[in-house]
Amino acid sequence: MKLVIGIVRPEKTNDVLEALYRADVRGITMTKVQGHGGELERQETYRGTTVRMGLADKVRFEIAVSDAFVTTTIEALRAGGQTGEVGDGKIFVVDLEQVVRIRTGETDNQAVTPAAGA
Ligand SMILES: Nc1ncnc2c1ncn2[C@@H]1O[C@H](COP(=O)(O)OP(=O)(O)OP(=O)(O)O)[C@@H](O)[C@H]1O
Ligand SMILES: [Mg+2]
Repeated sequence: MKLVIGIVRPEKTNDVLEALYRADVRGITMTKVQGHGGELERQETYRGTTVRMGLADKVRFEIAVSDAFVTTTIEALRAGGQTGEVGDGKIFVVDLEQVVRIRTGETDNQAVTPAAGA
């Protein structure tokens, strides 16, 4: 199992959700975050020009998936999040040790995918 973390532009949130839905990826957490992706803001000061590490509003998706769904999830995040411009965001894939569904006690691959009929 992997935890796929996708950081995207806030205005691409709905496109990402739609792409995930179309790819049958269910079970998503989304948070509003701020991040820095290397772009420097130039600031004029009375002694000259300085640069500032600015923070931009982003949206962070966290999606726990079985190994079979990793590629699909990455592709959906890219399809929904890409504009082609600098600052489109990034995807991190990390190993996931354990998942527990609180209602049933199911674990791991039985727990990452929403139960049938749910
Ligand atoms: N190495 C990183 N570690 C943690 N978060 C990152 C990292 N790189 C990017 N991010 C997050 O992703 C957001 C968008 O980053 P950004 O798209 O600018 O990445 P990039 O690698 O510089 O790509 P690009 O060349 O398209 O700008 C950042 O605001 C930050 O939240
Ligand atoms: Mg960048």
